Amino acid sequence: MVYRELGNSEIKVSAITFGAWAIGGFMWGGSDEKEAIEAISHGYDFGVTSIDTAPIYGMGLSEELVGKAVKGKRNQFQIMTKFGIRWKQQGTQTEFRSQAEYDRLMSQIYRTARKESIIEECENSLRRLGTDYIDYYQHHRPAEDAPVEEVMEALDRLLDQGKIRAAGVSNYSLEEFKKGEKYLQLEANQLPYSMVKRDIEKDMIPYLADRNKGVIAYSPLQRGVLTGKFKPDSHLAEGDHRKNSRFFKSENIRRINAFLDKIQPIAEDHNVTLAQLVLNWTIHQRGITVALAGARNPRQIEENARAADLQLTSYEMNTINKNLEALELETE
Ligand SMILES: NC(=O)c1ccc[n+]([C@@H]2O[C@H](COP(=O)([O-])OP(=O)(O)OC[C@H]3O[C@@H](n4cnc5c(N)ncnc54)[C@H](OP(=O)(O)O)[C@@H]3O)[C@@H](O)[C@H]2O)c1
Repeated sequence: MVYRELGNSEIKVSAITFGAWAIGGFMWGGSDEKEAIEAISHGYDFGVTSIDTAPIYGMGLSEELVGKAVKGKRNQFQIMTKFGIRWKQQGTQTEFRSQAEYDRLMSQIYRTARKESIIEECENSLRRLGTDYIDYYQHHRPAEDAPVEEVMEALDRLLDQGKIRAAGVSNYSLEEFKKGEKYLQLEANQLPYSMVKRDIEKDMIPYLADRNKGVIAYSPLQRGVLTGKFKPDSHLAEGDHRKNSRFFKSENIRRINAFLDKIQPIAEDHNVTLAQLVLNWTIHQRGITVALAGARNPRQIEENARAADLQLTSYEMNTINKNLEALELETE
């Protein structure tokens, strides 16, 4: 595994970080508690010491599972969680509910970033995680009901109290990030980034990289399509949010797979899977601190963790990049 400093903090994170959204079950067709906990433990055996979760992932369930997985060895992990997306029916919802019930809950989700709400959310997360500190606390998505300074004030207080070790944001525009930085040291911005979604390379990454701020790349496998396992006629289950993504339209799957066929020989030369090649490419792009690899079972996290150990030559990187330049996707 490769370890990196998170922004200008003293926190070292694993370049492949466990993405704990899917284990929350919500929007992912459910999850299996035993398998999820095993996945986190197994990831640790392969060097994945950092975990990214959020209260909204399974409405408390993902954080609870993370808490169970790190019990007794809390200090060996770096827990990143978030605040700012809440649901009306509060309290911990530890059981997986039916899709219909989740649909109902979906309509109850809202964003808020008022100071007192952030403080309360932090307490809820600490309780669910079974810990007295969060390593890295992120504002999940900008909200309209609170100015940036109010959000930063709340984070500052939590830092002072030692409840969080470092602070950052997610899905912030460059303008929003700059605004936040006026009030508080932000370590990173968590953003969507993959081989087929690279818009942040233009302005965001240069700005952050020049200041030694991190980028936490989410959906680096573009929700699985970059593993090559989807076919143009693949059926996605009802309720699978990927159905509406442009990356999962038949023509785009066909084009992505044609690209993957071209880089497959590189994967074969190293005896790795396409998912590993893609993740390795991601963590070696300028400014990228970690790739959040979503996984829900031990097999997936082991495969993803091992991606960090791969060493690509510059010739191989160039070959991948040339093929990527030639890849054009339909926008709608
Ligand atoms: N800040 C934000 O707003 C935000 C938004 C999205 C995600 N995130 C974070 O980023 C993490 C990762 O993002 P993501 O889950 O959207 O996308 P991702 O990592 O691009 O894709 C994850 C999905 O790809 C499949 N997969 C993973 N490893 C695989 C492997 N080795 N072989 C084959 N398939 C594999 C699994 O799907 P199957 O179900 O098909 O097995 C998995 O659920 C999340 O867990 C979360 O922590 C943050």
